[in-house]
Amino acid sequence: MPKITTPDIDTVLEKYPGEPHYLISLMQDVQSLYNYISPEHLDLICTHVGVPRTRAWSVATFYKSFSLVPRGEHEIKVCLGTACHLKGSPRIVESLERELHVCRGQTTGDLRFTLDTVNCVGACALAPVVVVDEEYQPRTTYRKLNKLLKGLAED
Ligand code: FES
Repeated sequence: MPKITTPDIDTVLEKYPGEPHYLISLMQDVQSLYNYISPEHLDLICTHVGVPRTRAWSVATFYKSFSLVPRGEHEIKVCLGTACHLKGSPRIVESLERELHVCRGQTTGDLRFTLDTVNCVGACALAPVVVVDEEYQPRTTYRKLNKLLKGLAED
């Protein structure tokens, strides 16, 4: 079976003309391919499209979809909106922090998981909701979640 490899940064840069309005598209591609934008990649992007690093930095820190630090292979987002909070989501966060040995906003040392919290994902009737890799886990419990994460860790 052929091995799937991540294209190198030059291949990604070549997809876009060197013009400032391609900044966000280029950043999205790099984020998607490497799961974060390293300082070196940010510099290369800025040089390619001709924008100052401060502008790219502002974009990267404004939009939550960009990360300037490595992210885990799997993203766990626990909703802490009112409905989920009332249904016990803070206890789910605490249990995950203990199990994964990270605080919210952090990534495990093996880069398997990133734990985040969000405020309402628009599915309050299904509270408490946890989103794992963009998939909603409705009316979840720590036990159900733990089983799911163990399955993901074994992949
Ligand atoms: S409060 Fe959690 S989905 Fe709305």
